[in-house]
Amino acid sequence: MSILPFTYFMPTRVECGNGISTKTGELVKDLGVSSVLIVTDKGVRGAGILEGIVASINAADLKYEIYDEVEPNPSVETIQQGIEYLKQHNFESVMGIGGGSSIDTAKAIAAMSTNPGHILEYEGVGKLKNSPLPIIAIPTTAGTGSEATNSTVVTNKETSFKLGVLSPLLFPNLAILDSSLTLHLPQGITAATGMDALTHAIESYTSKAASPISQGFAMQAIKMIGKNLTRSYFVGTDVESRENMLVASLLAGVAFSQSRLGNVHAISHTFGGVFNIPHGIANAALLPFVMKFNLPACTEQYREIAIALGNDVSGLSTMQAANKAIDSVVEMNCAMNIPLNIKELGVSLDALPKLVEDSMRSGNVFVNPRLTMASDIQTIIEKAYAGDLSS
Ligand SMILES: [Fe+2]
Repeated sequence: MSILPFTYFMPTRVECGNGISTKTGELVKDLGVSSVLIVTDKGVRGAGILEGIVASINAADLKYEIYDEVEPNPSVETIQQGIEYLKQHNFESVMGIGGGSSIDTAKAIAAMSTNPGHILEYEGVGKLKNSPLPIIAIPTTAGTGSEATNSTVVTNKETSFKLGVLSPLLFPNLAILDSSLTLHLPQGITAATGMDALTHAIESYTSKAASPISQGFAMQAIKMIGKNLTRSYFVGTDVESRENMLVASLLAGVAFSQSRLGNVHAISHTFGGVFNIPHGIANAALLPFVMKFNLPACTEQYREIAIALGNDVSGLSTMQAANKAIDSVVEMNCAMNIPLNIKELGVSLDALPKLVEDSMRSGNVFVNPRLTMASDIQTIIEKAYAGDLSS
């Protein structure tokens, strides 16, 4: 198969190791800054996760403050408040500690402290002009991959729309992966974020904009998630599976920052905006239905994914083997108590026209492997609502 032209760019320094976050201060100093605004949420702060990191920042003699106002699906207002806080204290770098919401908020604050105007003016690809302040990302969940991506997602509460700002300038300067920070994640968050990472990897692997490099990252992520997600769900304190999930999540992030995603994310972002459903759970519940829709367009790739998820496909036709990939996703959802339809998540079909319209606004629809019209999105949502995987 011929290779289409592609660009690969990923400038983030990655430091990985159990306990490595206790070296955060030294690593930040390497960036040549003397102060840092820590952006997080009250849950992470209350759980004591910041202690070792803050001790190392103190030991390195860096000035810092903690901004802990981040909420799930972070709003434009939260980001605006953070920017004002940063400007009042003149911080030279921004550190996101937590799940994707904290890291995305840190990225947005860092970007909008050096670019004029309002973040809503930067929706889309490549609109940021100036380099953000240095960004440090320390994930405490294994899912969003935001520590290694070129995007930030912000919720406009006035329109209930989640918008993406994408720019090569948004890759963090430094990502610190410390599995010891993820050992006490509750099961629900482990499941949601892990399935988000799997969705990133599967959508990236099959994206029309995928390259051999992004597919290498995506496939490795799928293998690692298949082997480790349910174990990290059932045995949360298992360092090995937590570590593997953290790395897999980053790999999937690198992959989709090159290839974008697909219809799952196009649709799930509209749920987050309208119903406030956790991003990973919305993805997990939608993934089998989007895969069923995409099956004719990427049968061979789904066969490869089925194998990566541990299926024995010997003796099966390509289509039978490809269907095993969908079965595996359904099994993982079942095992981790994720609903098999979106009705149970609180999605209402009253909002269907808006969900379809907002989904079609997403750039992810254009790289989805199967050509997708508004009527297709409507059918996928209706089938996901009914839990109908029959065709
Ligand atoms: Fe995602």
